[in-house]
Amino acid sequence: MTLNIVQIPAGAGSNFAYLVFCPQRLRGVAIDPSFAADAVLSAAAERGVQIEVVANTHGHHDHTAGNAVLLAATGAKLAAHRSDIPSADLPLIEGSLLPVGDSQIDVLHTPGHTPGGLVFVTDTAVITGDTLFVTRCGRADLAGSDVNQLYDSLQRLKQLPPATLVYPGHDYGPRPVSTIGDECHTNPYLLCADRESFIHLRLS
Ligand SMILES: [Fe+2]
Repeated sequence: MTLNIVQIPAGAGSNFAYLVFCPQRLRGVAIDPSFAADAVLSAAAERGVQIEVVANTHGHHDHTAGNAVLLAATGAKLAAHRSDIPSADLPLIEGSLLPVGDSQIDVLHTPGHTPGGLVFVTDTAVITGDTLFVTRCGRADLAGSDVNQLYDSLQRLKQLPPATLVYPGHDYGPRPVSTIGDECHTNPYLLCADRESFIHLRLS
C-alpha cells in the first residue's frame, strides 16, 4: 500500500511540514509540524485522516515548534530519536518501523546535522529533514553537528533506489521535491569524490 505524502510550507525559514497517511485506513503521521500545526491539522481534516503519531526528523526548534499544538489537538504520540528529544514517547532508532495504517515508515538514523537525526523512508519516498536538501545538504557547523557523520549519512542515502522521491526539511533548492537519482547527479555535496573534499566543501 503506497502512502500518500502532503508537503506543507511552514514559516519564514522555508520549512516543510509533512502529512504521511494511508489512503485506505486514513491513519497518518505528521512529520516536523514546524510553524504549520494548524495547516497540518487542516490537511488531515480535509482528507479525513486521523493523526496517530507526530514524528520529528531532529530536535531543532524550527521543526518541532508545532509539536505541542498538534499533540494536544490529536492525542498523538511523539516519536523521535532521544539523542535529540529525550522526552519522546516513542524512541526511534536505526531500523525502527512506524506503522501507518496498512503500511509503514522505515526509520534510518542519519546523524551529522544533529546527533539524533533521522530520515523517514516510505515505499516511494524519503523525508530527509535537514540531512539532505534539493541540491544542498544540512549544516555541519552547529552545536552537536559532526561533519564526518553527515558524510556517512549522505553516503547511505545515495544507496536508496534512484527513483526514491526526496522530500526535504526546507525549500532551499530550485524545486520542492527531487529524487535520489537526480541528487546523485546534481547535488555538489553528493558528487564529492571523497570524504576530504566533502568536509572542505561543507565547512568552507
Ligand atoms: Fe536543523
